[in-house]
This record gives sequence, structure tokens and C-alpha cells, in this order.
Amino acid sequence: MQNSLKPIVVLDFGKPDGMQLVRRLREKEVYTLILPAAADVQLLQQITPAGLICFGADKAEQIPPRIAALGLPSFSIAADEEPTPELFAFAASCCGESVPWNMERYASFMLEDIRQRVGSRKVLCGLSGGVDSSVVAALIHHAIGDQLTCVLVDTGLLRKGEADLVREVFEGTFKTKLICVRAEDRFLSALKDVTEPEQKRKIIGALFIEVFEEEAKKLGHMDFLAQGTLYPDVIESYQAAAGASVAVKSHHNVGGLPERMQMALLEPVRDLFKDEVRALGKVLQLPDMLVGRHPFPGPGLGVRCVGAITKDRLDTLRQADAIFIEEIRNAGLYDQIWQALVCLLPVKSVGIKDGKRVWEEVCTLRAINSVDAMTAQPALLPAPLLTKTVERICTEVPGVSRVLHDISPKPPATIEWE
Ligand code: XMP
Repeated sequence: MQNSLKPIVVLDFGKPDGMQLVRRLREKEVYTLILPAAADVQLLQQITPAGLICFGADKAEQIPPRIAALGLPSFSIAADEEPTPELFAFAASCCGESVPWNMERYASFMLEDIRQRVGSRKVLCGLSGGVDSSVVAALIHHAIGDQLTCVLVDTGLLRKGEADLVREVFEGTFKTKLICVRAEDRFLSALKDVTEPEQKRKIIGALFIEVFEEEAKKLGHMDFLAQGTLYPDVIESYQAAAGASVAVKSHHNVGGLPERMQMALLEPVRDLFKDEVRALGKVLQLPDMLVGRHPFPGPGLGVRCVGAITKDRLDTLRQADAIFIEEIRNAGLYDQIWQALVCLLPVKSVGIKDGKRVWEEVCTLRAINSVDAMTAQPALLPAPLLTKTVERICTEVPGVSRVLHDISPKPPATIEWE
């Protein structure tokens, strides 16, 4: 991709809103990337930029000499300055034939790029049912067909119907080679009596890698591991390298595997934002049920089943979650909400069911809106939707006597409870 289409590179001098400028230029169908002004010049050369936009440089600051030596056309914009029509015109004229940059073109360039990189070799892809891995798998399958094998690890921590949907789409419709590993018992026994959130995350992450690796070994040597790395992850890694980010939660992915198994990484959506990945999924004809899905954490319901994780508690949570999501869909609000979730709390409350006293658990409904998940605001849900959801959970889900509505913003409350 990077060799096929030439981007404009926003050189970031450390002022906020650089990302905003990237989005604005991409909305104008100009392929735009961002790099710190301190970036290695080789990194910049690999990207083969068509031009540079210096964003937020003080008057005293200039393009660093090692970058200026590349002789690329450049344009400067202060932080406090709105992008002007001249800036957009400059970017479009530099990029020439690479404009318009859109997901149809991205898909066709990427298909060719994958074919060239992979040749006749083999690719392994972990499928979770989430948008990113689904789009990556669909893209690679379109490019190289049966040279791709997907592995779905059913941890027992997935949402209701999740594994079936993935099978239906990938095995059924796309005829992708898909291996489903039933590993619920292993995950539940490894998590027995574990309540501390970071410990849960570490156990789930490590076991996921173990199970995935076992399956991969059965397949013989695979040359590439495909991952749904997104552009915000790439940018975060630059920031982390500069010591700017603080890890609040350890995220669970298949990190470490490529080196251990001597596989190269294939990250065909690493230049894209989430909404662009969704648009790409539509171009690849993935069904809306997959493409439009709310984000779901790698450790799954494990970090929504607050306290000890048992099969019974997970089933309770799965049922309550399915009702909440169904009611949001029925109200036509699913696509307007960034993420909705139910958590089961390790708290019991007294209630009355069928005229009898019960002492059962409490769950919480949470719906948020966000742009990048770094901050989030509560999505204010209509009263009839809330009332119906609560009524259904209390009557249809055994073991729940009370439902709360969590409207905490992030910060301070993270999106997931654990
Ligand atoms: P928090 O809870 O940190 O979540 O506010 C921010 C976003 O990230 C998702 N999330 C994860 N995604 N692996 C993932 O791939 C993880 O371990 C993980 N933990 C949280 C969360 O659902 C929200 O969208």
C-alpha cells in the first residue's frame, strides 16, 4: 500500500489536534499519515511521502535538517489555525493521482499488496468476531483464498451467538478455512477464584496465546500472522516510545507470537481508523451485523463478570447482555452508540419474584459515546428503552433481581469495569 499510494505526512511538533488534521484531510480523500517531527528519517522515507505539512511548529522551529534534505514540498500550519482551502489544495496537488483516496481504492491496492507480499506462502489469522479481525480476514481471504487459515478460540467468554455468527459468515458464506477451538473449560479452570482485574487479563491473554499456538503448530509452518492493528495503535506506539502514554489496563492481543513462531506480521489495516475499517468491511461485503459491531474487549466477558468467573455467572451475564443489545437495536439506536455493555456485579440484593423473597445478583447497563475510546461520555438512553430492558432482564434472566444504569464518564470511569 505504502508503495502504491503516496501520502501527505503531517509532521507533528507535539501540539494537540494533529490527528484532527489527519481526519480532515482524509475526509477530503487525501491519503494522510502523521509522524512526530522527531521521527527517524528512514521511517519517513519508507512511507514515500508526496509532501509534508508541518503542524504546530513555532515560528522559530523549522523542518529538521535531515528531513528538509529530502527536498519534499511542504506547507506550515500553526496549532491555533484552521486548515485553509490553500492547505487542502496543496495536499491534493502533491498527492496527484493518489486522490481520491477511498476504501474502494484502498481495497484494490491492498489486495494487490497482499498478493505480492505473500506470494505462495501461508497466512494465519486469529478471528475474534470483532470488526478489525473480521475485516482483516475477509481482505486476506479475498486476496489469497485458501492460503489463509483462520483460528477462532472460543474462550467461553464470548457474547451470545458470537462464535456461531463468525462460523456462519466465514465458513458458510466466504468458505474460508476456519478452525474453531472449544477452550471454555480450560479458560474457566484457569480463572477459577480469580477476582483481581489485571490478574484476569494476564491469565486470559497468556492462555489465549497458548491455545492459539497449539492450534497453529498443528497446521505446520505458517509464514505470516495477520493482525488487526489500527492506526491509533500505531500512533500510540510512537507516543509510548516518546514516554507519553500511561498503561491503565494491559490489553490482550496475540503479541509475542510472531517472534516465537517465526512468523512475519501482516497488518493490512494499520493505516486506518475504526470507521474506515468499517467502510472497508462494507466494500468487502461483510454483513452489517459484523461490520457495525460495537468494540468488544479481547478478554471478553471475563472483564464484565466482576468478581469470580463461573459458567453460571457468565450465562447470566450473556443473557442480560443479549437483552440490552436487542432492545437497543429494536429502538434503532445501535449504530448511534459507540459501545453498550452489561456488567454483572458480585453484589446481591433482596427482591421479590412470583411473590417470593429472592436474594440475587445485580447487573449494570452502560452505554457510551466516544471518538477514540480515550475519553467517553454516557449515551443518554430513552426511558422506555431502559424500562423495557430492566423489566425483561428481571423477568427473563434467572439470578438477577436488580439492574442499575451506569452513566459515569471516562475519565474517571474506564469503559470496561475491569
Ligand atoms: P477502557 O476500559 O480502557 O476501554 O476504557 C477502552 C476501549 O478498549 C476496549 N478494551 C479492549 N480492547 N483488548 C481490546 O482489544 C482489551 O484487552 C481491551 N480492554 C478494553 C474497551 O472495550 C473499550 O472500547
